[in-house]
Amino acid sequence: MPADPGQAAIRFEGVSKTFDAPGRSSTRVIESIDLDIPRDAITVLVGSSGCGKTTLLRMVNRMVDPTAGRVLVDGADVAERDPVQLRRGIGYVMQNGGLLPHRTVVDNVATVPRLNGVPRRQARLKAMELLEVVGLEQGVGKRYPAQLSGGQQQRVGVARALAAESGILLMDEPFAAVDPIVRRELQAEVLRLQRDLGRTVLFVTHDISEAFHLGDKVVLLQAGGRIAQQGTPDEFIESPASDFVREFIDADSRRLRVEGSRVLDARGRVAGVLADGPHAPTHTPARGSR
Ligand SMILES: Nc1ncnc2c1ncn2[C@@H]1O[C@H](COP(=O)(O)OP(=O)(O)O)[C@@H](O)[C@H]1O
Ligand SMILES: [Mg+2]
Repeated sequence: MPADPGQAAIRFEGVSKTFDAPGRSSTRVIESIDLDIPRDAITVLVGSSGCGKTTLLRMVNRMVDPTAGRVLVDGADVAERDPVQLRRGIGYVMQNGGLLPHRTVVDNVATVPRLNGVPRRQARLKAMELLEVVGLEQGVGKRYPAQLSGGQQQRVGVARALAAESGILLMDEPFAAVDPIVRRELQAEVLRLQRDLGRTVLFVTHDISEAFHLGDKVVLLQAGGRIAQQGTPDEFIESPASDFVREFIDADSRRLRVEGSRVLDARGRVAGVLADGPHAPTHTPARGSR
């Protein structure tokens, strides 16, 4: 699809969503959201569980239709697109991997190209290439999802989403279920892939440190599906828009980790250096901590 480089890859215009439950009052999940997702960058939607992140993400590929407003992809209203066609052109990594258990890894990755009419042999070759791109050995291709570790399954999920060969990749808490060390590796992989392949990534997480680490742009949602703030990680840290934002950031971004003798903050910046000595290591306070 021809893409105007200056145009947002995805645009939400006055988008609201209400779910009607029979016999109960309806719930407003997303409230009048206006939002641009820039092209060829990583935008992270962050917020507590239940604030509407998945609902907003799924409006992009029409797994959810808005009650009001429009969602534009490359300037065109998705409501006018055939949902099945649309989905085949947008990579989607689901919260729990979403791999087909009775298909081998290589066939899982080849699913969308096959549906798009790519011959089997060619689709499999492409799938093997993508497995390599996400850092998996060729031998993994013949296995079934249940024979892989959680981290490997998430990599396969990413490879499958890349197979859609669209400019857009939707990732819904893809690394929530893996241990912190594997999560770091996968985050590094996403940053590398984005740099090398230049996709538009819309990434969902409830973890503000993950959002700051990955996001060129961060969008914080609050209960009731409203945007609390949007901007670069630095803008959040330097000028939080409200007490809600300040508290959301503070709860997590002061979490420090140690690498060698350095103490790093949630964004990987050096917050201090460990002092040698007989006692517990000390560090200088992180920027922004009180
Ligand atoms: N299909 C649905 N029907 C009714 N309520 C839903 C549906 N999908 C989501 N919800 C509700 O919408 C709210 C937001 O859900 P979701 O978008 O999944 O949040 P998040 O991904 O931020 O955890 C929740 O209260 C959830 O129960
Ligand atoms: Mg969710």
